[in-house]
Amino acid sequence: MGDALQRLRDWNAEIAIVLGSGLTAVVHDPVESIAYSEFSELPKPRVAGHAGKFSLCEISETRVIFAQGRVHLYEGYSAGQVTANVRKLAHAGIKKLVVTNAAGALNQKFKPGDWMMINDHLNLTGTSPLIGCPKFLDLGNAYSPRLQKHFGDAAHKVGVFLHQGVYAAVIGPQYETAAEARILQNLGADAVGMSTVLEVIQARALEMEVAGFSCVANLATGLSSTVLSHAEVLETSHKAAKDFFRILGKALPNL
Ligand code: HPA
Repeated sequence: MGDALQRLRDWNAEIAIVLGSGLTAVVHDPVESIAYSEFSELPKPRVAGHAGKFSLCEISETRVIFAQGRVHLYEGYSAGQVTANVRKLAHAGIKKLVVTNAAGALNQKFKPGDWMMINDHLNLTGTSPLIGCPKFLDLGNAYSPRLQKHFGDAAHKVGVFLHQGVYAAVIGPQYETAAEARILQNLGADAVGMSTVLEVIQARALEMEVAGFSCVANLATGLSSTVLSHAEVLETSHKAAKDFFRILGKALPNL
């Protein structure tokens, strides 16, 4: 098993990108893939759209590790298990973490298929990966202002519009009621989802530099009359993956 970690390390990447639901289309021509099952500590994803492997890729001559597939609290996993991928990537030498997710839009200006760069979050999951190893971590600038500027410039150059906003994480797996969506809007959230924030907390505790992106998969309940489905989330994010790949191509060199 130690040998799988060595293969991750030997890739000598400094950047890892955690892919959310349906975003696997971002991965092109991996040099090597290492299944999560090769690491005894990593829980296996149980949800459609989450593959469960690390893919070692080169984009614009920059080495990256994609974490394809994550596990969620709603699958019955703990905050510690949900963030095991981030600790593994830190052991593999990763210093910069890009987290992505598929989210529901709370901001009325957002449309399905749009991208939002996360500039802050609301952790409404009721838990933390730091429970049990209390660390009074400062989460001011959790989403690196430097990386936000860098990705913002890259998106502009490739002509992909990036919204900016606050991501609220809830435990799920049910989508919000219309009343819950209104509360989240009133709390200042622009998008809502069921992942990401615990990984960000873990990454900051390990002193990684973090950037986060939400792919708007659907409008949250009450903002549109369509019935929410996981299939819709997967379809929209698959299309939006192409835009994100273009941003990465521009942003990764000199990150
Ligand atoms: N709500 C919560 N999580 C989500 C949504 C949503 O509307 N869409 C994708 N993940």
